[in-house]
Amino acid sequence: MYTEKVMDHFMNPRNMGEIEGASGVGTVGNAKCGDIMRMYIQVENDIITDVKFKTFGCGAAVATSSAATELVKGKTVKEALTITNKSVVEALEGLPPVKVHCSLLAEEALHAALWDYAQKNNLKIEGLEAPKEDVHDHE
Ligand code: FES
Repeated sequence: MYTEKVMDHFMNPRNMGEIEGASGVGTVGNAKCGDIMRMYIQVENDIITDVKFKTFGCGAAVATSSAATELVKGKTVKEALTITNKSVVEALEGLPPVKVHCSLLAEEALHAALWDYAQKNNLKIEGLEAPKEDVHDHE
């Protein structure tokens, strides 16, 4: 049912934890399943130099958070904004259809962290919208 990549990220999640004094923190949840994801980003000179996550959720949510952090690290803020749940699913070589919604948490948590970073620094990031607290809303 799950690809080897999904199982690998689930069993050995990358970048799990938190960043103290992070440049941006985003928390999103899905009220339907009750899962919650928090993402921390450290930004230096417009580059995301570090990223960590904490996910209280299903295995697919853990795997997608982990894969998303790998995609985000080293990217500019603008590049990070182009990372969607589809990119995350591709990086995992697919998710079962009933689990695709879990990857939306990763996209939204990243956007929420970018939003927090922009708010803290009085920046306007083109194409970035205020985060939704409940991802289920826009499934
Ligand atoms: Fe809730 Fe996967 S079932 S995020």
